[in-house]
Amino acid sequence: MSHLVSPSLLAADFGNLAKDINLINESLADWIHCDIMDGVFVPNISFGFPVIEQVKKIARKPLDVHLMIIDPDRYLSRFHDAGANILTVQYEACNHLNRTAAEIRRLGMKAGVAMNPHTPVSLLKNILPYIDMVLIMTVNPGFGGQSFIMESYSKISELRKMIDDGKYDVLIEVDGGIDTRNARKLIETGVDVLVAGNSVFSSEDPAGTIRKLKNLD
Ligand code: DX5
Ligand code: ZN
Repeated sequence: MSHLVSPSLLAADFGNLAKDINLINESLADWIHCDIMDGVFVPNISFGFPVIEQVKKIARKPLDVHLMIIDPDRYLSRFHDAGANILTVQYEACNHLNRTAAEIRRLGMKAGVAMNPHTPVSLLKNILPYIDMVLIMTVNPGFGGQSFIMESYSKISELRKMIDDGKYDVLIEVDGGIDTRNARKLIETGVDVLVAGNSVFSSEDPAGTIRKLKNLD
């Protein structure tokens, strides 16, 4: 499978979100990454259901929704109704991850589990058969525009081996500080999905940057 690119709306122009969603629609991007922050799990607040519903009306690509919130179980069906296609919860925010992942799938979405930089991927051993994606946070979640944490490479390699050894149908996504300079090495290390916020929307040519992230040479 060739890798996927999921531009993060967190770095888009919220005064004219329709313009940036259309830009993604017309680009080589595969998904649209939506970051939901509650001000408790992470020290920042982003946006919620009304914004996702509007994004969904315009988007022609699947919504890849990343929940950085405590107690996500309370809102799974609302995120489904708002238009999420892939719903990712933080490992650290779930007491009953099996139940949460099963409910996400039952609602008809792909189930993702995100891990903070300090959380070892070995903890995923017993959940891999029940999920569709692991999101390795390559910065501490909460803000766009941070620097990529280099130790992430060894986590990705370890997870790649776990997934391949177990023959699981699970994608590896990375999120935080991804740009056209580190993308190739990430894909070579075993990543399937690149999330990119600032490197796309702060560039001179966002569609061109998406194309470069997609067609790495
Ligand atoms: C960070 C979010 C990211 C963020 C990435 O907590 O989960 O999705 O938008 O932004 P960049 O690509 O600018 O690091
Ligand atoms: Zn994210």
